[in-house]
Amino acid sequence: MSSHSVTLIPGDGIGPEVTGAALSVIEAAGVQIDWEPVEAGAEVVAKYGTPVPDHVLHSIRGNNVALKGPIGTPVGGGFRSANVTMRQALELYASVRPVKNVPGVETRFDGVDLIVVRENTEGLYSGLEHRVAPGIVESLKIVTEAASLRISEYAFSMARREGRHEVCAVHKANIMKLSDGLFLECARKIASRYPDIEYREIIIDNCAMQLVKDPTAFDVLLLENLYGDILSDLCAGLVGGLGVVPGANIGADCALFEAVHGSAPDIAGKRIANPTAIILSAVMMLRHLEEEAAAVKIENAIFATLADPAKRTGDLGGPLGLDDFTQAVVDALA
Ligand code: NAI
Repeated sequence: MSSHSVTLIPGDGIGPEVTGAALSVIEAAGVQIDWEPVEAGAEVVAKYGTPVPDHVLHSIRGNNVALKGPIGTPVGGGFRSANVTMRQALELYASVRPVKNVPGVETRFDGVDLIVVRENTEGLYSGLEHRVAPGIVESLKIVTEAASLRISEYAFSMARREGRHEVCAVHKANIMKLSDGLFLECARKIASRYPDIEYREIIIDNCAMQLVKDPTAFDVLLLENLYGDILSDLCAGLVGGLGVVPGANIGADCALFEAVHGSAPDIAGKRIANPTAIILSAVMMLRHLEEEAAAVKIENAIFATLADPAKRTGDLGGPLGLDDFTQAVVDALA
């Protein structure tokens, strides 16, 4: 059996707890991974002066693949988001979040099966903010043709590869005519090269409303950075919450797999967090590493575990803590 080298970023808050659970499950599934653990996040700022020291980026560039726990970011001041820094430094331009009903997790809707594809490197997350005068702040939304074409191409080629029928570009070009207008222009250009994939456009506020009315009407959503960030959490809520949705950040050279949720400081250290999202992110990672058999085995084990109400974590109304839940998934692998 081949072995893989993967950078491991345990992260902050519940990060070390949930990534630890993912490692146990991967090991139990028989996949050999040489983990290269690196420190990043709020806890290391005092030591290195940054939440993302150079050795973290170096490790990911060397291995090309990373599994990452959530990292906390201070609000309103302090250091720049470690997540944004990593995405930009490694050119992880596509954030991919499959949103699917999880067996046994009851929600308002059945049959949800969509993929959020979010541009990850620019928009309002470019970090270009300045004080123009006392009481006036300017935040720059950067939209480039190159990045918009690249993310559109990713969404359409992924749609084709995964047998999806439609890409829907989400925008506010009625108000932000130039910036979102350019994004749409690029999406249309790429759409014209994929006649087998339907293409439509929807204004972000209407999209939010349609999603909560009938999410089954969507297939692949293509969004710029901020809209993608917000709607991916909304979509997570449609299938059971932040604890059950995986995510990947994909670049030309590197791929970083992480859960959608944050570091959950309110429950950190209590060992009650739900590791489903990071385990499903690890499943995406295993597929990326072409370990399809193990990916299927783990996915089936986690779905079988969740299908039993007595084997769910507290956020899903069940009685189990993190460790018992992880053990139940490991047992289901057998
Ligand atoms: P959060 O996702 O950490 O928490 C929101 C709510 O969901 C909390 O009640 C939390 O207990 C719950 N929750 C989250 N993950 C859970 C899990 N696996 N199991 C059970 N319950 C779970 O979002 P919040 O509070 O807005 O952010 C906290 C910190 O995380 C912030 O510093 C933020 O910047 C950071 N963050 C990091 C992300 C990343 O590293 N990818 C993504 C989002 C936020």
